[in-house]
Amino acid sequence: MSYYQRHVFFCLNQRDNGENACAQHGAKEGFDHCKARVKAEGTAGPGGVRVNKAGCLDRCAGGPVAVVYPEAVWYTYVDRNDIDEIVDRHLKRGEVVERPVLPPSVGR
Ligand code: FES
Repeated sequence: MSYYQRHVFFCLNQRDNGENACAQHGAKEGFDHCKARVKAEGTAGPGGVRVNKAGCLDRCAGGPVAVVYPEAVWYTYVDRNDIDEIVDRHLKRGEVVERPVLPPSVGR
C-alpha cells in the first residue's frame, strides 16, 4: 500500500525570460484552491491525498498542468470549477475527469 492514496503535483514554474510557464496561467491559484479543498475535506495526509508544488514538468504548452498519481493522469485546468471537479471525482472517488485531461501529444 502506498503512503498516500493519491499524490498530486502542480507545476508552479515561472520564467522571467518571456517563455511560457504555468505560473502565468493561474497555477498558484489552482494549487492553493486544491490544497484548501483537500484540507477542508479532511482527506489530506498519509493514507489520503497529498498536494505538492512542482517545478516544470515539461508539458508547458498545456499549462497550467497538474498530474495525479498513482493513475498518472495529467490535467490542464482552467479555473476553480475544474479543480473542484478533480477533487470531488478523482481525488475522492478515483474517477478520471475526462474534460480537463491533457492530450498525450502536448509537450513543452
Ligand atoms: S512550466 Fe509548467 S510544465 Fe513547464
